[in-house]
Formats: sequence, C-alpha cells, structure tokens
Amino acid sequence: MKKAVCPGSFDPITNGHLDIIKRAAELFDEVTVLVVTNPDKKCAFSPEERCDLIKKATEDIEGVKVDSFSGLLADYVKQNEINAIVKGIRSSSDFEYEFQMALANRSLAPNAETVFITADPQNMYVSSSLIRQIACFGGDVSDFVPKNIVEEIEKRFK
Ligand code: PNS
Repeated sequence: MKKAVCPGSFDPITNGHLDIIKRAAELFDEVTVLVVTNPDKKCAFSPEERCDLIKKATEDIEGVKVDSFSGLLADYVKQNEINAIVKGIRSSSDFEYEFQMALANRSLAPNAETVFITADPQNMYVSSSLIRQIACFGGDVSDFVPKNIVEEIEKRFK
C-alpha cells in the first residue's frame, strides 16, 4: 500500500490545497492531510478547527485521512511508514523553499520521497493568508475555498 502525506498549516484549507489533495489521492492508495502545528506560529484557526474544515472539504475524496502533529515531519513519516511527502508548487519562490525542505526531509527520513505537484493555474495566486485577509475585512471568499466551508470561514472572522 502506497501512503502519502500532504503536510501544511492549512489556516484555512484553500481550493489550491484541495486540488493538490485530490490529485495526490489519484496517485496514492492513502493520503493523510496533516495539520502540522507550530507553537510559535499564530494561527487564526486552532488545529482542531483546521482538521474539521479539512475533513468537511475532503469528505467525498476516497482514501483521504486527516491528522494533526506537532513535531518534525520526518518523525511522523517514519512513525507511520509513509512513502511520499506531497507538496504543491505555485511559483519559483515556492520551489526554492520546498526544495530546501525536501533535501532536509530526505536526509532525516530517507525512505520517503518528496513529490511536487504543480498548482493548477487557476489557483496559483491563492493562499491561506490571502483568504484570511479577505475574510477579515468582510470580503467574499467563495471563489477561493471549498464551497461547503465558506460559511464557517466567513462566520469565524465576523
Ligand atoms: O503550509 P505551510 O506553513 O507552508 O507548511 C509548512 C510545513 C508545516 C509543511 C513545514 O513547516 C513543516 O514540515 N513543519 C514541521 C517541522 C519540520 O519538520 N521542519 C523541518 C522541515 S525540513
């Protein structure tokens, strides 16, 4: 069984994340969407809220699980015998950052390959921070986040 992990902050999950998760689910038998909690990072949503939003957004995708973890991604990968770390790439700056992380993870967890999936052009400019900013000022986020979580996100910022 080929297992992959899609790690991230997901604060909150976007259409860009959802597209990468769907495409990863076509390539692997099991995909764990992993909310990586960083105690130093101030997030708008708690880890539990972020997991709940992801569960709702991915409920129709077969083979997708949601989990959260506080620690090194390489440790989670080894503990759970995961074969691949899937990352979405939107731009060359994403690549610079992700390439460095991929090399570090390769050294820490040599049995897992990092797999890059290129963003759909439609989602190239979409980010969680953009969504937080729009929602914070009462804007409409429905073009940027999964349809069935729009209300929860907008309500959160009211
Ligand atoms: O959505 P983000 O914030 O860009 O995701 C970054 C994330 C959470 C995937 C990355 O920071 C991470 O893997 N953090 C876990 C700690 C870790 O393993 N750091 C070393 C990476 S080489």
